[in-house]
Amino acid sequence: MKTPETVRWAGDAIDVLDQTLLPGEVTYKRCDTVELAIEAIYLLRVRGAPAIGVMAGYTLALAMRIAAPADRDMFFDVLESEKARIDAARPTAHNLRWALERCAAAAHHADARSVDALHAVLLEEAHAIAAEDRELCAAIGRSGASLVPEGGGILTHCNAGALATAGIGTALAPLYTAWDAGKRFQVFADETRPLWQGARLTAWELAQAGIPVKVLCDGAAASLLASGQVQLVIVGADRVAANGDVANKIGTYGVALAARAHDIPFYVAAPSTTFDLGTPTGAGIPIEQRNSDEIVEPMGSPMAPQGVEGWNPAFDITPHGLIAGFVTESGILRPPFVESIRTAFGRHGRGA
Ligand code: MRU
Repeated sequence: MKTPETVRWAGDAIDVLDQTLLPGEVTYKRCDTVELAIEAIYLLRVRGAPAIGVMAGYTLALAMRIAAPADRDMFFDVLESEKARIDAARPTAHNLRWALERCAAAAHHADARSVDALHAVLLEEAHAIAAEDRELCAAIGRSGASLVPEGGGILTHCNAGALATAGIGTALAPLYTAWDAGKRFQVFADETRPLWQGARLTAWELAQAGIPVKVLCDGAAASLLASGQVQLVIVGADRVAANGDVANKIGTYGVALAARAHDIPFYVAAPSTTFDLGTPTGAGIPIEQRNSDEIVEPMGSPMAPQGVEGWNPAFDITPHGLIAGFVTESGILRPPFVESIRTAFGRHGRGA
């Protein structure tokens, strides 16, 4: 499958595939200021936890070039304030903070003495995060391909595909890998209100790859699962706590409950970079609250009486007890997750 490049370094700027315009337009938005880069994250021009991590690395590199600190001491002072500014763009996806910490640590540990050399270290680390993410996605694809039911149906929620990463995605990676190996199946994509990542993005990238996909409204997911057409549910994650509780796009929890009620296995696909072993349970994961207008005036069309407010959490927590397994680059992790996650990624995790 040919993956669209979600984020790319363009010299002294970052080019971002503007996902707010999909599926109508494939356009790159140039971010040549830190403000534009942060806005691109907040407005979901670039989105999905791993792609946000890649963007964070490049945004830090860009921010430091623009700030142009005069010496090494000043470099590290400015680095802290720029990190904090970028980190505030979206609170839930663990990859954002993880990437910022990783790039800062690379600068701290480098032998580089000059500011120019420190700039080069930051950029190199950002490129490394992007390259590694491509590998992680491919490995997740290999780990999960055997779960894909030959001739069956798969339900997914939101977009955890190529558009959410630097590679072939997380939840969609096993589907791409199985498809390339000759398996045939039907994908069902929840439309994913209020920003339509399922209808606009998942359906777009699967259709581009020639994989059959039907879009359903979020409220139809339970009926679809009851209908016998689905044998596997697979979603991505924005953050996984140490006990296996998962933050993912709002609506994921309801899908997991319905899957349990109908005895259909519910899997979460995520790279180690999304596991936050410093957060013991889902209760500690910050949930982004977004603007009420996204609910009452979706895509600019008023849908509720004037003056009525929307309630708009961007993510929910699926308790680990509803999850059959995590599809990771280190294979499929099974319950009890406290142990399997720690065994796979160490006490502090890669995402620590
Ligand atoms: O608000 P979004 O579109 O950034 O939310 C994305 C999701 O919830 C994805 O499922 C998650 O980030 C995993 S992406 C591989």
